[in-house]
Amino acid sequence: IAQMELPPRPELFDFHGVSMVHYFTDNWDNVQNFQARPDDILIATYPKAGTTWVSHMLDLMYFGKSSPERAASVPIYERVPFLEFCVQGMPTGVELADKTTLSPRLIKTHFPVQFVPKSFWEQNCRIIYVARNAKDNVVSYFHFDRMNKVEPEPGDWPSFLQRFQEGKMVFGSWYDHVKGWWEKKKSNPKILYLFYEDLAEDMGCELDRVCNFLGVSLNEEDRSWVKQAVGFDAMKNNSMANYSTIGVMDFKISPFMRKGKVGDWKNHFTVSQNEEFDEQYKLKMADTSLCFRTEI
Ligand code: A3P
Repeated sequence: IAQMELPPRPELFDFHGVSMVHYFTDNWDNVQNFQARPDDILIATYPKAGTTWVSHMLDLMYFGKSSPERAASVPIYERVPFLEFCVQGMPTGVELADKTTLSPRLIKTHFPVQFVPKSFWEQNCRIIYVARNAKDNVVSYFHFDRMNKVEPEPGDWPSFLQRFQEGKMVFGSWYDHVKGWWEKKKSNPKILYLFYEDLAEDMGCELDRVCNFLGVSLNEEDRSWVKQAVGFDAMKNNSMANYSTIGVMDFKISPFMRKGKVGDWKNHFTVSQNEEFDEQYKLKMADTSLCFRTEI
C-alpha cells in the first residue's frame, strides 16, 4: 500500500492534564460538540487494548449477515469511525460518523472518560470499554509506535517503559484511563467493562455477555460464524480488519496484528524491569478494586 506523505513525527504535549498529539486534539471543538444518537454504541479503550478486536466483533454482530459486502469491502477504520481522529488527507472521525446512515452507529474513542463529548451521556448511549493488562498493553504500544507515523518516536524499550509509567503516552496514563472508566462504570449501567484477557480466554462467553448487554440475539450459526471471524488469524489475514490498507503504518517494521497473546510481556521485560514495574504498579493501583491478569 502506498505510504502517505506525512510531516515528521508529532510531539507529545499536555492537553487538559493528559499527554496528547495534535492529530487527536486538532478537531477538539467539533468532537466536543458531536451529536450522539441514542442508539450509538461507543467503543472506548486505552490504545492497544483490543479496540479493533471488539470493533470488528460488533460490526459483524450487527451487519455481518445483513450487509456482507460491507465487511468484505470497507476497512475497519471506516466501519467504526475513530471519533477524535484528524489527519490531513483523510476524513475526520466526526465526518465519517456524521455521514453514517446505518444504525446503530459504532464509534471508537481512546479518550479518557473525562474527554467524552457530553452528548454521549445526555443520550444515555451504551458504551463498551475494553481494558488490557498494563504489561502486555505497554509492549503492544511500543511496537505500534515504532511502525505508526502519526505517533511520537518511541525511542528504545527501556525509555518507552519509563514514559509509560509516567503517563507520557498518547492519551495519557494507562492507570488514570483504566481507573477513570472503572469508576464511571460503577454508577453507569450503560457501560460494559471488558478485559482483553477474558476475550482471549473464552470468546464464546464474552460474546454472549456483549449480546446480552446490547440486547442482540444471534442464532447458533451466526454466533459461531462471528466467533470464527474474530479469531486472531482470521483477522490478521483479513485486509478489512488488519489495517493493511491505511497509509500511515509501516508493516515492514511491525504488523498491526502483531501477536495477539496474553503474556508476551515476558519476552520484553527484564527481571529487574519487571520488579520495578510491579513495585510502582502496586502503588498506582492501591486505590482501586480493579484487577488484571497478566497471564491466562
Ligand atoms: P499485540 O500488539 O499484542 O499483538 P488495538 O486494536 O486496541 O490497537 O489493539 C491491538 C492489539 O490487539 C494488538 O496486540 C493486536 O494483535 C491485538 N488483537 C487484534 N485483534 C485480535 C484478535 N482477534 N485476537 C487477539 N488479539 C487481537
